[in-house]
Amino acid sequence: MSLVVLDTISPATSLISCSMICMFSNYRKHAKEAVAYGWEVPSLENVKINWSSLTEAVQNHIKSVNWVTRVDLREKKIEYINGLGEFKDPHTVIATLKNGSKKELTAKNIVIAVGGRPHYPDIPGAKEYCISSDDIFSLSHPPGKTLVVGAGYIGLECAGFLNSLGYSATVLVRSVPLRGFDQQMASMVTNEMESKGVRFQHKCIPLSVEKLESGQLKARWLNTETKEQSEDVFDTVLLATGRYALTQQLNLPAAGVTSVSANGKIVAETEQTNVAHVFAVGDVLDGRPELTPVAIHAGRLLARRLFAGAAQLMDYDNVATTVFTPLEYGCVGLSEETAVQRYGADNLEIYHAFYKPTEFFIPQRNIRNCYLKAVARREAPQRVLGLHFVGPVAGEVIQGFAAAVKCGITMEQLMNTVGIHPTVAEEFTRLNITKRSGKDPNPASCCS
Ligand SMILES: *[C@@H]1O[C@H](CO)[C@@H](O)[C@H](O)[C@H]1NC(C)=O
Ligand SMILES: *[C@@H]1O[C@H](CO)[C@@H](O)[C@H](O)[C@H]1NC(C)=O
Ligand SMILES: *[C@@H]1O[C@H](CO)[C@@H](O)[C@H](O)[C@H]1NC(C)=O
Repeated sequence: MSLVVLDTISPATSLISCSMICMFSNYRKHAKEAVAYGWEVPSLENVKINWSSLTEAVQNHIKSVNWVTRVDLREKKIEYINGLGEFKDPHTVIATLKNGSKKELTAKNIVIAVGGRPHYPDIPGAKEYCISSDDIFSLSHPPGKTLVVGAGYIGLECAGFLNSLGYSATVLVRSVPLRGFDQQMASMVTNEMESKGVRFQHKCIPLSVEKLESGQLKARWLNTETKEQSEDVFDTVLLATGRYALTQQLNLPAAGVTSVSANGKIVAETEQTNVAHVFAVGDVLDGRPELTPVAIHAGRLLARRLFAGAAQLMDYDNVATTVFTPLEYGCVGLSEETAVQRYGADNLEIYHAFYKPTEFFIPQRNIRNCYLKAVARREAPQRVLGLHFVGPVAGEVIQGFAAAVKCGITMEQLMNTVGIHPTVAEEFTRLNITKRSGKDPNPASCCS
């Protein structure tokens, strides 16, 4: 059996680097807090980012990831073709190579995994002057004062790390931040960002971006509630208004693929389209989480079903994820809103607590936004439907609990788990206050 991968760009995207930088961008904060532990830090004014060394490091990382991927493909005897593909008939794909020449490929099975590309709003100046999160680490100059349009997780991550790196960041929020995520947790994330100096313009949509003689960008936006228009001058305007699926150029009708939703995404339960030998995985799928590990896992299971006689299907529920904002937000399972919709508030018990991470004991940081909650069925043994955690290393915390939720953990079992002291993850084992009780979820020794 021979395998061919057809790809237009490099295999790795810059999204990996985005979260990588998010984790390191708090370095200045750590340096500041180290003083409380006795470190003599010469002068925090000298702790600043060198944009070109940062982008160089990121680009090198992406190059090495791409290199490893290519070596991997070669070792597995998979042919890699750099070209743009389109269907000619159900079993034939035409690849347009860089030099314009065309190559026809025929295959028994075809997997569509074209992913998405940044969506640019239809306003003057968007295409000419704005960048997307894909471009941020190819900027040859520091981003400076930045306007981020969009408050999904990519928008918030970018605004968060730009602010941590010392650049001014303003976020235009069209509806609500982190739409689709638990909204109470989302507000913890944005409150924390606001307290660190990120500005939010709520209910605002962009109108135009124009270039001034100084080279700076003048952005105008509209508050859709007050109908008020505002403008300000920025060095960079970063659009994070979602991504669209790259299905237009695929000439899907030639393959007979008709299961396409209004937004151009492919509808494929069990990753199979309406054409039995044409499959789809990843961000191109309609209604599935747009997360790389989800795509990888679904692809792996599909390959096993196609070629190894396996039957296991991808489970898209209970996929853990983390928003890498300065204070991270990790979650798995249902948000409180979705749980209420599905089960009714009377049938749920919500456990919650504010907590003080141990690393903040000595620096005495104000910790108003370190918070966690468990969404559970009310009837015994209170099966856990969702876990939510805002705080340091939320990604690390939620990963292990995700396995427990997938195994059907109950509140009883969670409360019977012995914590590791002192960690932030142990807070999940200490949860005992329900929202219904009305008791104060603040820790005893807290909150200056
Ligand atoms: C920033 O880093 C680049 C190389 O990565 C170096 O050439 C430059 O001198 C550095 N700038 C400063 C101000 O240190
Ligand atoms: C275009 O590139 C391909 C692959 O690199 C090569 O095989 C082909 O001969 C080239 N065609 C032209 C017209 O240069
Ligand atoms: C109950 O929760 C509070 C607040 O998080 C915590 O301080 C306390 O230790 C918990 N009690 C038990 C018995 O786990």
